[in-house]
Amino acid sequence: MNIIGPDYLVFGVDDVTACVQYLIDYGLTPVDVDATGGYLEALDGTGIVIRHRGDARLPAPLETGTTLRETVYGVADEAALHAIDTELSKDRHVSLGEDGVLRAVDDMGFALGFRITQRRELSLAGEVSNAPGSATLRAINSLGASNDMPARPRSLSHVVCFVPDADKAEAFYARLGFVCTDRFIGTGPFLRPAGTQDHHTLFFIQTPGFMKGIEHFTFHMAGPTEVMVAGSRFVEKGYQSFWGPGRHQLGSNWFWYFNSPMGCHVEYDADMDLHDDTWQARSELSSADTSQYFLFRHTEKWMPGGKPE
Ligand SMILES: [Fe+2]
Repeated sequence: MNIIGPDYLVFGVDDVTACVQYLIDYGLTPVDVDATGGYLEALDGTGIVIRHRGDARLPAPLETGTTLRETVYGVADEAALHAIDTELSKDRHVSLGEDGVLRAVDDMGFALGFRITQRRELSLAGEVSNAPGSATLRAINSLGASNDMPARPRSLSHVVCFVPDADKAEAFYARLGFVCTDRFIGTGPFLRPAGTQDHHTLFFIQTPGFMKGIEHFTFHMAGPTEVMVAGSRFVEKGYQSFWGPGRHQLGSNWFWYFNSPMGCHVEYDADMDLHDDTWQARSELSSADTSQYFLFRHTEKWMPGGKPE
């Protein structure tokens, strides 16, 4: 089933204004936003819907009250939609909305949607670094960074959810063609759907008891410099860094996580590994040592001889 990845996520929040402003400051563009919330998008049209948690347009909430109300995946074509419909109709209710979204609920209770993707194809250079011996170099006289360089989220990358039974969750998504690219033993799998080579668009964190909900989502940036620039600007706007910047081990993605008024973390990421079906999944115990190659902490600008820290 040719699922490409999440096209958009739908949130039901307490403070719509704060969440919309947060996502604008994060770098998304409001497309259809009014006092009741709306849609904010990245450069390729993937994005986030913000509504008040009591908004009647939202799917029913999970019993845990998580703010994530729906994940809508983009698929390649009508055949993929049909295959998903056929598979999920075996054991659950599937409906097609007037918005062209095929809807069902997964085995954890998360509301899912599937539509022919509306993401726009991007033709934008990624970050290129100059390195002796490399055939790919930045163009002569082009600068590697600048104070006014854009650092805009390009595409919705992945979602991470807490689940009480990660094996059961993985088995459900395997029915839709997701494969495990790597695994944190006792925590959960990194899952890649068939329509992308990205290391993961979904990761589960096994939790004790009933805990269930979103931990974070993230958008891809052009490269590590954009992660640093966008994150630094975000800090300067007053938002609180949670974890990062750093570089993960499984997936090799650069990361920087922030607290948010959506009740989950929000990340910038870049330069994730790409895999195909020849890739052999690794298994690691999750720990500080295995979850990152290195970790930095943001600090205000200073220079030797300048103002003391
Ligand atoms: Fe992440």
